[in-house]
Amino acid sequence: MTFPKRLHFKVVSSTNDYAKELVGEHSPIVVTADFQTFGRGRNKNVWEGAYGENVYFSLGLKHLPLKPIDEVAYLQGLGCLAVKATLEYIAKDVIFRLKYPNDIYVKCLDGIFRKISGVLVEHIFFGDLCEASVIGIGINVNQSEFDGELRSTASSLKNIGVIANVDYVVEQLQKNLFELLRLPKDKVFEFWKSELNILHTAIEVIGKEGIWEVNGFDNIGRLIVVNRATGVKIFVDNGDSIRYAIL
Ligand code: BTN
Repeated sequence: MTFPKRLHFKVVSSTNDYAKELVGEHSPIVVTADFQTFGRGRNKNVWEGAYGENVYFSLGLKHLPLKPIDEVAYLQGLGCLAVKATLEYIAKDVIFRLKYPNDIYVKCLDGIFRKISGVLVEHIFFGDLCEASVIGIGINVNQSEFDGELRSTASSLKNIGVIANVDYVVEQLQKNLFELLRLPKDKVFEFWKSELNILHTAIEVIGKEGIWEVNGFDNIGRLIVVNRATGVKIFVDNGDSIRYAIL
């Protein structure tokens, strides 16, 4: 794979949006920023962060030939794995966990797991086939204050006592992403499943009654879950919110 072109902006609406615009011309393309005015998370959530203190990163990849969804869905797992590898390299002895579908949690000094990073993978389709994908990654690095609900649910490297340079985190992240991209998709998928460690876990699915048990994954990374009381089977994907204990 060619070494990626990287564009850095002081302020951008969303690095994902910019990467989507550019990926047709340049692939791979990396877009980073000091600040996003319309940073986005999963399910139309807002991704907020302080100026210059965090990683706001997107990697755009054009697919030639175009690929069916089951060949690109693994990129979400790949993004999460790259973040975990990066954080583990920078903050040795700190415990990081993946939370389905797209979060990375850190074990904080008080023993509580809090979200330190989120991954937003977006695909551009031409009919049924995918022509490009953007792996968007936010990592909280030097931000120590969070607003509202995030005050109790979010953390950063700084908050666990690790001082890191944002650009250094970006470099390591990029290196880990490209190392994982060299692996066959099935291998990455297996690695993701094992890191998630969610099989046979009891979960709550927000908006659905009861306790559900994770019985497996399908070929596009959805969870196959079964209601423990009724035996009803459903799929849980990116659009769903689930709750379970991170151990
Ligand atoms: C989530 O937790 O739901 C995913 C958050 C992803 C945030 C990153 S920051 C860089 C890129 N640009 C965006 O607008 N979102 C992603």
